[in-house]
Amino acid sequence: MNGKPQQYEPINAAFPHLLHGGDYNPDQWIKTPEIWDEDMRLMKLAGCNAMSVGIFSWSSLEPEEGRFEFNWLDTIMDKLAAQGAKAILATPSGARPAWMSRAYPEVLRVEADRHRNLHGLRHNHCYTSPVYREKTERINRLLADRYKDHPSLLVWHISNEFGGECHCDLCQDAFRNWLRSRYGHDIEALNLAWWTGFWSHRFNGFDQIESPAPHGENAVHGHNLDWKRFVTFQTTEFMKNEMKPLRELTPNVPITTNLMGTYTGLDYWKMAPELDLVSWDNYPSWHCGGMKTWELAADISFVHDLTRSLKGGKPFMLMESTPSIVNWQPVNKLKRPGMHRLSSLQAVAHGSDTVQYFQWRKSRGASEKLHGAVVDHVGHEHTRVFRDVAEVGEDLRKLAPIGGSTVRPDVALIYDWENRWAIDDAQALRNGPGQKGYEQACKAHYRAFWKLGVPVDVINEDCDFAGYKLVVAPMLYMLRPGVAERLTAFVEAGGTLVTGYFSGYVDESDLCFLGGVPGPLRKVTGIWAEEIDSLHDNDENGIRFAADNDLKLAGTYKAHTYCELIHAETARIAATYASDFYAGRPAVTVNAYGTGEAWYVAARSEFAFLRDFYAALTGKMRLLRALDADLPEGVTAVLRTNGKDRFVFLMNFSEARQAVRMPGEAEEMLSGKRMQGEVALEPYDVKVLHYRQEDCRQEDCRQKD
Ligand code: GAL
Repeated sequence: MNGKPQQYEPINAAFPHLLHGGDYNPDQWIKTPEIWDEDMRLMKLAGCNAMSVGIFSWSSLEPEEGRFEFNWLDTIMDKLAAQGAKAILATPSGARPAWMSRAYPEVLRVEADRHRNLHGLRHNHCYTSPVYREKTERINRLLADRYKDHPSLLVWHISNEFGGECHCDLCQDAFRNWLRSRYGHDIEALNLAWWTGFWSHRFNGFDQIESPAPHGENAVHGHNLDWKRFVTFQTTEFMKNEMKPLRELTPNVPITTNLMGTYTGLDYWKMAPELDLVSWDNYPSWHCGGMKTWELAADISFVHDLTRSLKGGKPFMLMESTPSIVNWQPVNKLKRPGMHRLSSLQAVAHGSDTVQYFQWRKSRGASEKLHGAVVDHVGHEHTRVFRDVAEVGEDLRKLAPIGGSTVRPDVALIYDWENRWAIDDAQALRNGPGQKGYEQACKAHYRAFWKLGVPVDVINEDCDFAGYKLVVAPMLYMLRPGVAERLTAFVEAGGTLVTGYFSGYVDESDLCFLGGVPGPLRKVTGIWAEEIDSLHDNDENGIRFAADNDLKLAGTYKAHTYCELIHAETARIAATYASDFYAGRPAVTVNAYGTGEAWYVAARSEFAFLRDFYAALTGKMRLLRALDADLPEGVTAVLRTNGKDRFVFLMNFSEARQAVRMPGEAEEMLSGKRMQGEVALEPYDVKVLHYRQEDCRQEDCRQKD
């Protein structure tokens, strides 16, 4: 367990409930305050107890520079308090009033092509601008001072979906200063890290450096990487500046900002430590074809697990999801009956202590007027969507005992932002947007665990590997200093590592390791990867298992996209390629190292390979599962536990009726019934089995110690 807690405090100790609510924009209805009263009535009916207020309210809070109007917000905060509800109070920096852009053009963002944007839209400020920082600090201070003792104030919601980058002169200077500090004011250190001897790109001084640009420099990988690191740094600094007055005036109110899953523009591992809790906005395209429902569900589970792992297992917040449809997908298909509940409780299963929506009430005008909302333009509660939401409200009330619990998996899967940036930038393998497929590869490995109901943490290279039994690291192309050494120590001490093709190529500056791929992982994996073959869509190879392999796997699985040509040095060969000029050469190897072992999967494979490979490893290693039961296709089991009670979410992400034979006996929390034997799951059904400690005597419910 590694000293990590099994049970956390509620999000805010003063309010021990699972939260339910959403983005609430009463300032859009300032001229019709009777709507506010109706909102309160409807919130109660829907079982909503926490509303995100003020996200884009700057022009209502400060209609003219220096003239503040808080009366409307006072009224809303009081109304929420009057019915025992809470506010997730936002700072308004996600969008700004027109007067500010006019008076201080430096707050407007400059794009990579060096054009300054006009006023409009949102999420488009310069995060370096001293004026914007001063203005956000001021309004945040006023908000904190005004509401610091208000009974509604529950959580701070900083800005909204931080993202994008600014290339203005202020940012250029800040970038150069960041580089000076990274390279100890030594331009030769930078020249070496960026390999600027290439195409005569050598710099004489930091003042010659600019951010990457479509019409300027964009081919120096170390430069691109450092720029992305800087964007994360500067955004985090901006966020910290917003947080300063809140920390000062409301030290006990937790702070979050809504993240966007695997959004590539920011390394969330750098932001998370600054936050008290993490939250994310989840908009899956259910029923949109192309993918089976369970495959998409597993991809979403991956992001929930990633979000939970960002704070070491602490419960997170589902900050936004749609109660019905969004309005920005190519085809905005309605959620089929049951899907709203299933999708909402899926977040809870993976560690969310909230189900929040965008949006509470449909706005009357502008681009989101036809986006789904709890309250439709019709204005009353007699809608399918409202009923769905109210049902989730009722479910969350029943699931209250789950709040604060978590899971401590045996398995960690590395998904690393910097590694992704480096992979996406590499001119190699298959080129073109999305062609490298790093995220897809991670999700493919993850799906195998999802099918087995094996809990997984999704971590990055810097996380502690101790405490896990199995670390899975697909396409670990970039190894920052110490990572290979820590993985080697992990295996030496008895851990199992699974890695494979396109790993161990470059260091943290994107400079290739000399001495053979996978660089510093060569010893622990016991292989040398001499070449890598990229396959066309209609090419394939096979992974053929040897008769006496450790996992007792048999037959041939399809290999596609990438086949690495490796030499087993100290590793044993478990499978070989089936065809082409490298037929018979190793495709899967395992290397005994210390008291552990390292697997190397040299090719991208069909899912059946990953499914069978990880099923065999799970059995062999006796990895923690949510439930010791056979799970039919489309069904998963997800575990939360406080160390005593085990809460097992059985979820059917298929269009067919399914059944699972559960071990032992438990209470099903949504129906309140005791259950044993075969559990029937209707399409999109969810059951939450509560195994109390006394129900867990049998071997089937053993706790991991
Ligand atoms: C989110 C955003 C919300 C809303 C929503 C629509 O990304 O934070 O403000 O625009 O999308 O789906």
